[in-house]
Amino acid sequence: MEAPKIMDYRKKTVSEIEVRGKRVLLRCDFNIPIDRQTGEVADTGRIVSALPTINYLLDEGAAVIVCSHLGRPHGQWKEELSLRPVCARLQEYLGKPVEMARDVVGPDARRLASRLAPGQIMMLENLRFEKGEEANDPIFASELAGLADIFVSDAFGSVHRAHASVAGVADYLPAVAGFLLARELYAIGGVVSNPARPFIAVLGGSKVSDKIGVIINLIKVADAVIIGGGMAYTFAAALGGDVGGSLCERDKLEYARRAIEAAKDKGAVLMLPADSVVAMGMDSPAPTLVAESMSVPEGYMGLDIGPAAIEAFTGAVAGAGAVVWNGPMGVFEDPRFEAGTLAIADAMARSGAMTIVGGGDSAAAVRKFGLEDKFTHISTGGGATLEFLEGKILPGVKCLDEKE
Ligand code: 3PG
Repeated sequence: MEAPKIMDYRKKTVSEIEVRGKRVLLRCDFNIPIDRQTGEVADTGRIVSALPTINYLLDEGAAVIVCSHLGRPHGQWKEELSLRPVCARLQEYLGKPVEMARDVVGPDARRLASRLAPGQIMMLENLRFEKGEEANDPIFASELAGLADIFVSDAFGSVHRAHASVAGVADYLPAVAGFLLARELYAIGGVVSNPARPFIAVLGGSKVSDKIGVIINLIKVADAVIIGGGMAYTFAAALGGDVGGSLCERDKLEYARRAIEAAKDKGAVLMLPADSVVAMGMDSPAPTLVAESMSVPEGYMGLDIGPAAIEAFTGAVAGAGAVVWNGPMGVFEDPRFEAGTLAIADAMARSGAMTIVGGGDSAAAVRKFGLEDKFTHISTGGGATLEFLEGKILPGVKCLDEKE
């Protein structure tokens, strides 16, 4: 069997390098929602996930310079994308002052960094206020590096971006992984390259085009691939089904056929939802119906998997040795269409299998259902997790120093 393409991520971690008395540039992914009304951080998950590395560095006597991007200001200064609210929350979690620089590599950042003592921490402004960040400009990368002695990357959510603070800076400093990044690589890479069996991949979400690389890569290693969410209707249409008004990428039927063929060649089971919960529209107050996914009535659209699909999918998950899940089964934000996503989350939580949730919407669903403590690992990545599962080279990992 062809091994799935997952890089050999034997990267040096922060515990394998002397940090005492050193200035550490710590790249985090604090790209988190900010409430527009209050200006406060709306989801602290990524801050909490970064605490083990930050606390370790401070306890070990490093001076920590935290940096991150927020949103997509593309080199423009945008007041509403300042990292100040994130800095305030981090300060609360740490219970110690976190000095906020007024710029990224300018005079304020340099002044604060130069007087930072061991055990103290500061934060730079939004990296994407600088044009050099996304351009991976070597001058900007060397200016960032100039603030510190060591680069620690804990920004798993950003490692698919070849940006200055993610990859470029590693050309100028010793570069190692933080605990969050190491855990993500170990958990996701480990389960995909050497899974307990049966290994089930559960893939949902709206578009086949977003997931085709992941589907094809996971078919190579999974015993069964479960397809739910909006993209199931592109598969149903590819097999000649009537999908009514369901979401369907007519120009991507070929992708679905390619995945079906790949599963056949490999001998993996590809499970599609036998039935669906359908409605006249996402916001239609008319009652919902259950229909076969291959014959959704005209004027109706599939918005969740149906009871027969739930039984089949959860049955497969219950007997699994390992499960990777990415993408909801339906429009779970609406209680009328949450049953499929809830059933998958619940079945994974009860399964006793190694369970990995691949970030984004499925992670949000797990949190909505209050099941976050019941999984082996919930990824903090969105696009990064998908690219990792796809087997792509991640520039923010490739650039780090190898283990000795
Ligand atoms: C994310 O939230 O997925 C990462 O922070 C990457 O953000 P980006 O898609 O704007 O690069």
